[in-house]
Amino acid sequence: MTTTTTAGDLTSEVLSAHSTTPDPRLRELLAALIRHLHAFTVETRLTSQEWLAGIEFLTATGQKCDSQRQEFILLSDVLGLSSLVDLVNAAAGATESTVLGPFYRPGAPRRKMGEHIGRPEDGTPTLIRGRVSDTSGSPIDGATLDVWQGSGNGLYDIQDPAQPNFNLRGVFTTGSDGAYSFRTSRPVSYPVPIDGPVGNIFRASGRHNWRAAHVHAILSAPGYQPVTTHIFDSENEHLTSDAVFGVRDSLIRQFNPAGPGDPSDVQYVVDVDFTLAPAG
Ligand code: BEZ
Ligand code: FE
Repeated sequence: MTTTTTAGDLTSEVLSAHSTTPDPRLRELLAALIRHLHAFTVETRLTSQEWLAGIEFLTATGQKCDSQRQEFILLSDVLGLSSLVDLVNAAAGATESTVLGPFYRPGAPRRKMGEHIGRPEDGTPTLIRGRVSDTSGSPIDGATLDVWQGSGNGLYDIQDPAQPNFNLRGVFTTGSDGAYSFRTSRPVSYPVPIDGPVGNIFRASGRHNWRAAHVHAILSAPGYQPVTTHIFDSENEHLTSDAVFGVRDSLIRQFNPAGPGDPSDVQYVVDVDFTLAPAG
């Protein structure tokens, strides 16, 4: 007597075929991927046309990638996957991490404490200052802050030929007090690119594609887990609808008008302390 193959039979067969994968972590990831993909297909009763549309979408996403553009990372960002990866890997007690984004460039110039990372024409002059400490509150000597942001026109240097190389980027290293400071422009909101396949997700879902205004930072120090994070402006209108789900309440700061005792060349002052957790 012939029996009919069920969805469950097929899932078990595919899982079993991959169960001998020698690398244990790869075996775990493959099994979970198969289980979730199969469950998704059964739950939604995915049609052949929808399956093909998905394949065509992923193909177009790959074809949009080049040395300057990573459409797959943008897809991951827009579906909240990048943010979720950050959340599940967060180190207890450390500054919260959030998305790296596509505009990071290694090799930014090393700058002196307090130096401006951009130009006056990038926007309203702002001083960002604080301290890098460990989880017990002791200052970290030799911590590195690699910071970058877009200009007042909403563009990063790599998107805008009118900006000098490495505009609005800089690397700062703390001394024994863990203190840092740098001048920059108050960041503005900017749209994530929608001229590729990922733009269709925004159009189909009716979402806007604006990022909440932010400054990026990567904090690192020997013996500590690095943190890739942002500083968000508390007055920004997109904090609750960031296009890539990157906002964390703990990363939102007030841009306070500079007062007596603050440097006279800045209009705003922002206090941001960072905490790093020990490595391993
Ligand atoms: C950004 O912060 O620059 C960014 C992050 C994710 C997608 C697009 C841009
Ligand atoms: Fe950004």
